[in-house]
Amino acid sequence: MCGIVGYIGEKKSTDVLVDGLSKLEYRGYDSAGVAVYNNECLDVRKKKGRLKILANSLEEQPLDGTIGIGHTRWATHGAPSDENAHPHATASGEIAVVHNGIIENYMKLKDYLGTKGYTFASQTDTEVIAHLVDYYYEGDLYNAVQEAMKRLEGSYALAVISKNHPDELIAVRKDSPLILGIGEGENFIASDIPAILAYTRNVYLLEDDEVARVRKDGIDIYDKYGIPVMREIFKVDWDVEAAEKGGYKHFMIKEIHEEPKALRDTLSPRITEENEVNLKDLEISNRRIKNIDRIVIVACGTAYHAGLIAKYAFEEKLRIPVEIDIASEYRYRNPIVNESDLYIIISQSGETADTLAAMRMAKKEGAKILAITNVVGSTVSREADYVMYTWAGPEIAVASTKAYTTQILCLYLIMLEFGKVRGSIKEDEYAALVKELKQLPAKAEEIITEDNIKHIMKSAHKHCTVADTYFLGRNLDYAVALEGSLKLKEISYIHSEAFAAGELKHGPIALIEDNTLVITIATQSKLFEKTVSNIKEVKARGAFVLAIATEHANMIKDLTDEAIFVPQTLDIFMPILSVIPTQLFAYYCSVERGIDVDKPRNLAKSVTVE
Ligand code: AGP
Repeated sequence: MCGIVGYIGEKKSTDVLVDGLSKLEYRGYDSAGVAVYNNECLDVRKKKGRLKILANSLEEQPLDGTIGIGHTRWATHGAPSDENAHPHATASGEIAVVHNGIIENYMKLKDYLGTKGYTFASQTDTEVIAHLVDYYYEGDLYNAVQEAMKRLEGSYALAVISKNHPDELIAVRKDSPLILGIGEGENFIASDIPAILAYTRNVYLLEDDEVARVRKDGIDIYDKYGIPVMREIFKVDWDVEAAEKGGYKHFMIKEIHEEPKALRDTLSPRITEENEVNLKDLEISNRRIKNIDRIVIVACGTAYHAGLIAKYAFEEKLRIPVEIDIASEYRYRNPIVNESDLYIIISQSGETADTLAAMRMAKKEGAKILAITNVVGSTVSREADYVMYTWAGPEIAVASTKAYTTQILCLYLIMLEFGKVRGSIKEDEYAALVKELKQLPAKAEEIITEDNIKHIMKSAHKHCTVADTYFLGRNLDYAVALEGSLKLKEISYIHSEAFAAGELKHGPIALIEDNTLVITIATQSKLFEKTVSNIKEVKARGAFVLAIATEHANMIKDLTDEAIFVPQTLDIFMPILSVIPTQLFAYYCSVERGIDVDKPRNLAKSVTVE
């Protein structure tokens, strides 16, 4: 997720572009750049780092021009650097492009354009677009862009500028948001509304596969066949802060709503048309995969909980012993490290001090490191041997949600790849698992509906004043119970603990009394009866049981005081779905208690100190 801005009018375009980008930094902030037509040629200026570095350089050496495009980046392909920052221009400097999204077939296109004499200055997928437009350019920029789109696969919102067409910008939308701001004698392109609110409240919302010619005195929109499209003007009545949250009250609830897309963005580039998992971006050899004797997962907080899911799943499907450790414990327990170990290090930020220290210890002892992170160019990604990115986009809220579910998804993809290579997952089971995995984004969407949210809001309203809450679950449900309990703790400040349901009778059941709120995750069909008996155990002691179960477990309704149902999927994939109601419950309890949900007390998004 990056931020795009375009401007054509009478104003100094860099002022408008930098101002707009400053309102889009929540979409990405690892590098930024602009391309401006100065009445002779295109001036491109791009800088690694926060927007202010670019802004300072434009102050020191201003760029003139009243037409330009700008970008603030959230790296996916190519670590943050001046070269990899956008805009990307052709060698002739005639055409420049800014892009938000992922071009899935960029390697193929890069090879093809290479045979046509094009050379590449960056490691990005985006640069391919600039050269492809140039390849199809025969005097009309709009036509060249339409032709290039026919070759592009993936998601892309684009703004394109050419020195040969100083009177228009081309805007393109496919699976990544893009809007057009309508001004008086000026017009705007932007990834999101905050960027242009200071100039206009009249916008066109581009639909997928639409291309627009943006001139200062007008905007023409076409579909992918070049047929003109009439579009209603959308009048924006939000303030900037609300707009940055896309109209949501907090980044956390916005990021929960983004989970289906984050899952899709993380999954689709890694499943081929033949329904094969393709982890070419991991660059781990089959020989290495076959020689793994033990997997050790190390992480902190929510990332650790994602790792716990993998312990259950990997041991079941790969029959490889999996150890999991909290990083702050790992680094001081003098662990035994074998060279044939594969360490999986999970970190949204890629900068968590304890996790980095644990990684460095294992690496020093000769173990290979596979990192799963959400931040391209982060320390963990630079020091690991293999890196797999969750393409969840920036996660602003301290409470991790979409990074967690996409981390689990990455772990499932690794499980499938290793299972295929090691032969522990047979062909038919592999096909069934891949087929079901592809359904998960849509099933997540089925949970995040207005009705469901109303139901959970009502439940949160009823329970948000409790002093203590206990989460229960068995097997994968226990791992989800730990995460649900952490979410509630960290943003609602309610004391909450999670227990392995089978452990109740060994002590924790002593905590249960009349109306004690017990949230039970009951999605594992092979352990369903066992979990039912645990529910009966706490009910018998007066507990108020709220269950999260699959739509097929209807009898849960009669057994419990409240139930939230999620779509059915394979037991092994249930955590990606069953955790979402716990995220929503925690969010609405926090809202009910008037807490600053995105910035809860005593917590930081990335814990870079020990
Ligand atoms: C989760 O909501 C918390 N923000 C926290 O537990 C977090 O998961 C932990 O600090 C690890 O962060 P990382 O994934 O960036 O390493």
